[in-house]
Amino acid sequence: MSKYKYIIVEIENDIATITFNRPEKKNAMSPDLHAEMCVALDEVAAAKVKVMVLTGSGNAFVGGMDLEKCFFDNWDDPEKFVEGIKPSFEWMKHLKTFPAVTVAKVNGWCFGGGMEVVGLCDIAIVAEESTWGLSEVNFGIFPGGGTTWTVVNNMPSRKQGLYYTLTADTFNGKEAVDLGWASKAVPLAELDAHTDKIVAGLVKKGRVVMQKCKEVYERIDNLNMEFPEAVDYEIAKLFELSRLTDDDWIRSGLQSFKKREYKPGLEEYKLTKDV
Ligand code: ACO
Repeated sequence: MSKYKYIIVEIENDIATITFNRPEKKNAMSPDLHAEMCVALDEVAAAKVKVMVLTGSGNAFVGGMDLEKCFFDNWDDPEKFVEGIKPSFEWMKHLKTFPAVTVAKVNGWCFGGGMEVVGLCDIAIVAEESTWGLSEVNFGIFPGGGTTWTVVNNMPSRKQGLYYTLTADTFNGKEAVDLGWASKAVPLAELDAHTDKIVAGLVKKGRVVMQKCKEVYERIDNLNMEFPEAVDYEIAKLFELSRLTDDDWIRSGLQSFKKREYKPGLEEYKLTKDV
C-alpha cells in the first residue's frame, strides 16, 4: 500500500510523476498533503530521475492552499497554524532548487498556491482551457508564502503582475503563456500526449548537463551578475560539468559530431552512459 494518501507518486525510467490527489477538494493543499510532499520530494531526489512532472487529479491542477485546513481551522492556535503551513515552505524551497527538471502539467483550476507551484517549476505545459487566478485579495489577503515572489519572477510586466494581484481576475492557459506563467498551452485533450513528448525528449539528454543548465541559469538570474562575472562563472561551471561527466560532451558528443553522425542543431547525441 502507498505511504501517500493525498498524492500519487510514480517513479519509472528516469521520470517521476507526482499527482495532487484530492479531486473532491480541487486538490487544495492541506497540511497533510504538504507533509507528504516533503517526503515525496526527498524520495524523488534520491531516485536521481531526470524529470519530475507535477499534475492534478480530476479537473483541477491545484485549487490553492486548503483555506479551511491550513488557515481557518488553525488561526486561533498560532503554533498549530505555523506547524500546518511550515511543511509547505519546506517542499516549495526544495522544489525551487530541485536537481531534476521540473515540469508542471496544468490540467485545470490553478489558484494562489497552485500558481506558486507552477511558478517554481522549470517548465509548464498547460491546458488552454485551464483557469488561473491570484484569488487571495478576494478573501482579504495578499498572495503570501512565496506566491508574490513567483508573481514578480514569472511575470515580466509589473503592470500585469499588480493587475492580477489586485483584481484577482482569472485568465486561461493561453493567456498564462503570454503572461509568463507557462511554456506552452495545448488543448486539454492533447495535454498528456504533448507533455509525454516533451518529457521523452528531455530524458534523452544527460542528467548532469540538465542539472548544470538549471544551476547556471538560477545563479545568473538570482544574483543579477554582471557580464564579466557571468563569463567567469560559466567557464568554471563548464569545467565542473566536464569533470562530473568524465568529459562526455567532448568524448561522445563532439566525437560523434566529428564523424557527422548527427546534427546538433536538430537533435542530441546518443548517450552511451548515465551522465
Ligand atoms: N480550500 C479548501 N477547499 C476548497 C478549495 C480550497 N482552496 N478549493 C475548492 N475547495 C472545495 C470546495 O469548498 C468544495 O468543497 P465542498 O464539496 O465541501 O463544498 C469542493 O472543493 C469542490 O469545489 P466547488 O467550489 O464545489 O467546485 P467548483 O467547480 O464550483 O469551483 C473553484 C471550483 C472555482 C476552484 C472553487 O472551488 C474555488 O473558488 N476554490 C477556491 C480557490 C481559491 O481561491 N484558492 C485559494 C488560493 S489562495 C492561496 O492558495 C493562499
